[in-house]
Amino acid sequence: MIDKKTKQKIIVTGGCGYIGSHTVVALIENNFEVVILDDLSNSNITVLDRIEKITGIKPTFIEVDLKDISRVENIFRYNKDVAAVIHFAAYKAVSESVKEPLKYYQNNLYSLMNTLMSQQKHGINNFIFSSSATVYGNSKTLPITEENEVQRPFSPYGNTKKIAEEILDDLVKSDPNFSAISLRYFNPIGAHDSGLIGELPSGVPNNLMPYITQTAVGIRAKLMVYGNDYPTKDGTPIRDYIHVVDLAEAHVIAVKRLLNNKQEEQLETFNLGTGIGYSVLEIIKVFEKISGSKLNYEITGRRDGDVPLLFASTNLAKEKLGWQAKRKLEDMVLSSWKWEQNIRKVK
Ligand code: WQD
Repeated sequence: MIDKKTKQKIIVTGGCGYIGSHTVVALIENNFEVVILDDLSNSNITVLDRIEKITGIKPTFIEVDLKDISRVENIFRYNKDVAAVIHFAAYKAVSESVKEPLKYYQNNLYSLMNTLMSQQKHGINNFIFSSSATVYGNSKTLPITEENEVQRPFSPYGNTKKIAEEILDDLVKSDPNFSAISLRYFNPIGAHDSGLIGELPSGVPNNLMPYITQTAVGIRAKLMVYGNDYPTKDGTPIRDYIHVVDLAEAHVIAVKRLLNNKQEEQLETFNLGTGIGYSVLEIIKVFEKISGSKLNYEITGRRDGDVPLLFASTNLAKEKLGWQAKRKLEDMVLSSWKWEQNIRKVK
């Protein structure tokens, strides 16, 4: 049994959230010690017990609003032995960000800058950033590579991701000791196969998968399919859905890359997708097959900001990180469904 002192310590901001909690599980399973910083604004503290149930280890948890720089700086002062930071903490509801842009710019960018300034001050120079394919906007060249032009994202949420990457670029140019990896997620769905952690959006889900599972358990009356007049095979938009556990495993590989000084640039950027696109109707069809029940849905008008087609080139992550997504769409949908059934039962 490796004792605590030989474990490398990782701070995970937003570690009680959907992708954060799955990454915490993967880090613990890779023998890292984890300290979670989270304000619980869009997550639940019970996730700590569930992480313990899965891994046998309860991560250290500090409830903190990262917009409070004095508290953040204090935390880093007392955690100088931290080897790296993985930064998930951000508001992420696209439609809400359009209604309340300043709330998103303030929270997402202050949290990022306070974390970066505090860790840099204490000589912690490794940073993994949770970015999004939304920075590519409505890209015409597909599959999307990391060289695709980063456009002005439609939503303030997406723009906070773009600005964050620009901040990282300026930071590494100013500090030769600082290294960062930005991971651009396509569409994360699915849940840990234990059924103990998963996506738990507060309020009405914005994203397709939780809306489907909540409709199937009767929380939502029916799914609105936002448009079937797109230039795609069945008229509904196509996305590159990736299993959240594949995503979590990529974060462990990325943090090890920095800890072993394998990075080739001070700031590296990788797409995290499967390279395969599925339409909304295809997702529904797979869900109906897996759940064995018809889903109640209605085709309605398009949603502002939706693009017809978005899927990743996965070559760079495969070549440089030696990572590629392993889990198939059926795994993603089944694990989402199992998670939804579990929480409603335990609720
Ligand atoms: C997928 C498809 C919708 C809901 C967003 C963010 C991205 C990341 C993932 C945070 C689209 C359709 C959806 C519904 C529907 N978020 N849909 N009815 O918009 O591709 O990406 O979430 O990190 O940054 O931009 O994901 O799940 O919202 O939508 O028809 O009730 O499902 O039109 O075609 P999206 P999504």
